[in-house]
Amino acid sequence: MNPGAYVHVPFCAHRCAYCSFVALEGRSEEKEYFEGVEREIRSRAAEAVGVLRDFDSVYFGGGTPSYVDASRLRGVLSNLEEVFGFSSDTEVTAEANPDDLTPAGLLDLRALGVNRLSVGVQSLVDAELSPLERRHDAAGARRAVWDAVKAFGNVSADLMIGVPGQTRETLRGSLDGLLEAGVSHLSAYLLEIEKAPKLVALKRSRPGLFADDDEMADRWLELDEHLSAAGLPRYEISNWARPGFESRHNLKYWTLTPVLGFGVAAHSFDGTRRSANTGSLAEYLRRTRDGLSPVVTSEENGEGSDLLRKKEGVMLGLRLAGGVPSCSFEEIRRSLPAAEASRIEDAFLAGLLESVEGPGAGGLAGERRVRLTRRGVLLSNEVFSLFL
Ligand SMILES: C[S@@+](CC[C@H](N)C(=O)[O-])C[C@H]1O[C@@H](n2cnc3c(N)ncnc32)[C@H](O)[C@@H]1O
Ligand code: SF4
Repeated sequence: MNPGAYVHVPFCAHRCAYCSFVALEGRSEEKEYFEGVEREIRSRAAEAVGVLRDFDSVYFGGGTPSYVDASRLRGVLSNLEEVFGFSSDTEVTAEANPDDLTPAGLLDLRALGVNRLSVGVQSLVDAELSPLERRHDAAGARRAVWDAVKAFGNVSADLMIGVPGQTRETLRGSLDGLLEAGVSHLSAYLLEIEKAPKLVALKRSRPGLFADDDEMADRWLELDEHLSAAGLPRYEISNWARPGFESRHNLKYWTLTPVLGFGVAAHSFDGTRRSANTGSLAEYLRRTRDGLSPVVTSEENGEGSDLLRKKEGVMLGLRLAGGVPSCSFEEIRRSLPAAEASRIEDAFLAGLLESVEGPGAGGLAGERRVRLTRRGVLLSNEVFSLFL
């Protein structure tokens, strides 16, 4: 896989009740921000040597990339192409909010070179959308996804499990609405409310609207079964796709493929080092305007330790439905102290991990792989803690 680029777009029309991403209401600083991103891209031209060339994925995430003027995204793409080069079939994804996907909005996104949309739907039930403070209603979201599929073909939708008022039936209804519209990819996240004071307050006053952990797990299991049966098997803990429609960009994060991040709060991995840009928009604007780097932390992957690096590779690979090659897994197990190795054995005995015959390189049968079981996916944090 070639490297990719992530570009953060920190503007939204309205701040949703549950969101903890780096995103501001309004876009008054849009022009200045994209000038900063352009300067950041140009300042990193020295990295465009050796392997960090010929990007085959660009991901505009947010915030709400569909909310800003399309010419801004076009400018970023042409800067990236000029500095780093693109491969012949670069996947260009933009996250989008349903209300921006008017016929004109869709045309603009296509014309600038976006070829994959990731639409934040969250739910197709009005009573569930309103406590989330989404701008769209269910009918608007449904229409937007149908139109997006018609215009792009390659469309993903985000849903959340456990939104206030959701039941298994309404979740199933939201899923069916998206499948009928023809999405080829779906991301489903368990709602987290710890950093969302409005939802914490709602849960205190109306606890019955919220699912407990067991109910969340059951909803996840049903969703997983339903999507597999509909021809979108799970390929990562939170992602399902029709075969061939997996997100090329997101696969890079789980296979330790370099991704350079641009913009406020963006993270980069260049193959050996991980770095993070400042999470403050004011600071990002100031630094890029003054010709300073926006990077605030940088460390060698695995802090230079070969074992830590390999552990990280296995932990990330276990997120994938295909898991990791047995040989990499066993190498780590052998290098662990006896007590830690036996906790891994316990995870197999408890049915959280399994060893299976899987397709090897080029799809050849015979290579053994270790992967999370479905129960293991639900307790994945417990399994990952074995590798920390
Ligand atoms: C960067 S965000 C949103 C993209 C776009 N701005 C939107 O709202 O449609 C990507 C996805 O993360 C998920 N997400 C955001 N906050 C979450 C939370 N507190 N708990 C679970 N999932 C969350 C949502 O499904 C969201 O669509
Ligand atoms: S969920 Fe999306 S639209 Fe809502 S505040 Fe977060 S990034 Fe913005």
